[in-house]
Amino acid sequence: MKFVIAATGASGTVYLQRLLEQIDCAAHEIHLIMSAHAEQVATQELDNFKIPSRVSRHPESDLNVPFVSGSAHFDAMVIVPCSMATLGRIASGSSDSALLRAADVFLKERRKLILVPRETPWNLIHARNVVTLLEAGAIVLPAIPSFYSRPKSLVDLVDTVVWRILDQIGLPNPRAYRWSAGGRIRGGEQDKAAETLRKKN
Ligand SMILES: Cc1cc2nc3c(=O)[nH]c(=O)nc-3n(C[C@H](O)[C@H](O)[C@H](O)COP(=O)(O)O)c2cc1C
Repeated sequence: MKFVIAATGASGTVYLQRLLEQIDCAAHEIHLIMSAHAEQVATQELDNFKIPSRVSRHPESDLNVPFVSGSAHFDAMVIVPCSMATLGRIASGSSDSALLRAADVFLKERRKLILVPRETPWNLIHARNVVTLLEAGAIVLPAIPSFYSRPKSLVDLVDTVVWRILDQIGLPNPRAYRWSAGGRIRGGEQDKAAETLRKKN
């Protein structure tokens, strides 16, 4: 499958990091765009932000990339983390960077566009922009972790959000905690598979 992953200057680089770690970059085509502010926030938040070698990186301004045209088929685009500034630009129809144009194309082609904002609290402008994007077909998946899996570490907590993103792009993590009427379900034996994937990336 083919994905565009973008990061903007909201807090939450760790969500991007965990997403990249849990996608098999050898099996899927991954294109990454980071805004200038995303780069700045990444430096602020993580000591060892690592992009898997198989990921294709593109400058924010370079429109010479396949996913800015509706004629190139891609499966989904995720913006994680998504700043309210970028969310507002997409809602207004702005498309003057590769990142914004790609989001615009995914909406017009009715392809999956998943935005992961972190901002809190919201003002009315944020809320209205979110409604506009939902009406246009985007999926807004706020970076709001859950606790019913009893996460024991920061990574566990972050993964409660990342697993929802993976579900949305059709790459569910077999280790993901799933609620069931009977209580916990977790594929513990899948830990080895996750380790193999980490090495591969
Ligand atoms: C350390 C830091 C954390 C930030 N966190 C957020 C955030 O969580 N959400 C948000 O919408 N903006 C946040 N911002 C502000 C954005 O970076 C700013 O609006 C920027 O213009 C976004 O540009 P971009 O969308 O092109 O990346 C943060 C800025 C800094 C420096």
